[in-house]
Amino acid sequence: MAVVDVDATGAEEFAGRMLGTVNGAMLALGISLGHRTSLYDVLAELEPATSERIAEHAGLQERYVREWLAGQLAGGIIEHDPQAGTWWLPREHALSLTRTAGPNNIAFMASAVSPFAELEDDVLAAFRDGGGVPWSRMERLQAWQSELSYGYYHYALDAALGLVERLPDRLRAGIDVLDAGCGHGHAALRIADAYPASRVVGYDVASAAIAAARAGAEALGLRNARFEVRDAADLEREAYDLVLGLDVVHDLARPYETLRAIHGSLRPGGLLLMAEHALSHRPEENVGHPLAATFYTVSLFHCMAGSLSDDGEGLGIAWGEERIRPALAEAGFGAVGSHVLEGDPFNIYYAAQRDR
Ligand SMILES: C[S@@+](CC[C@H](N)C(=O)[O-])C[C@H]1O[C@@H](n2cnc3c(N)ncnc32)[C@H](O)[C@@H]1O
Repeated sequence: MAVVDVDATGAEEFAGRMLGTVNGAMLALGISLGHRTSLYDVLAELEPATSERIAEHAGLQERYVREWLAGQLAGGIIEHDPQAGTWWLPREHALSLTRTAGPNNIAFMASAVSPFAELEDDVLAAFRDGGGVPWSRMERLQAWQSELSYGYYHYALDAALGLVERLPDRLRAGIDVLDAGCGHGHAALRIADAYPASRVVGYDVASAAIAAARAGAEALGLRNARFEVRDAADLEREAYDLVLGLDVVHDLARPYETLRAIHGSLRPGGLLLMAEHALSHRPEENVGHPLAATFYTVSLFHCMAGSLSDDGEGLGIAWGEERIRPALAEAGFGAVGSHVLEGDPFNIYYAAQRDR
């Protein structure tokens, strides 16, 4: 073996960075528990308090709360007065960790770590033997993703619909809408609720997701929303004026066939509104993106693995505008606009129109 010089300082710096990453990942599990137990929400409401008082307010076991507090102190999240025996969450930290933070709640983001980790054995097996991880194995992950979408669409959907001239007016007047790969149906439900004259259909292959979407429609008393377990490639012809493909096309086993089916399902002049991650298909161009490492993990455990489970294309989350535009053109779409919404640098919205 050739003897090569090693930059000892660089190696030490790298090892330290890796250790910090592992420490952060373990801390993320504690942050997830802080979210799921509502401990951050409770702490945000309390003056500095003992572990007994915090546990009582949260309805939790004091011994667990005390151990968690110690880890949170070590992680620089919570502060502590050893003399008084009290603990508190600084207001500046509460802004990123409580439910009232809404889409800025990073503790909710941390609660994704364990549902991804649950799939590690399946992903490991797929590394060795090929294939993928079926969507049916991802129920907990999909429930998290759905909560993410809910908070997200609450904020982004109106802005996305507003990207296309006169679309809100047409929805108000009444059009046919399909949410392809609707998940728990948040976007479909929101549109059906806001535009009662429009008729909204959601298709997804995950039966748990469709059950949740149907329950959502029932809870809202919607009569203009319908959900079916169905492959998004299996579509009626010329039936819709608007098709949504939100964070879904790269997950599909047959994305190119599905885009062609979507094109065929639109009436002339109809519109596909598609959201995909603002990543390049060239890995080197994603270096420096603040969440690219997270997104590649999401792809490895979920998007790519889900697609490959069905003997699919396995595009991965980062198929990128460079490949999306030719795919839309190949499916038959002429005019394609792409937009980044203010406050959402992570997605690109494509508005692709079927020719009249
Ligand atoms: C990342 S989720 C996005 C869900 C939803 N559009 C949202 O933004 O909340 C991707 C969804 O695609 C669904 N899916 C995967 N393959 C599908 C297919 N062939 N037909 C329909 N849905 C599919 C999955 O079950 C999952 O619910």
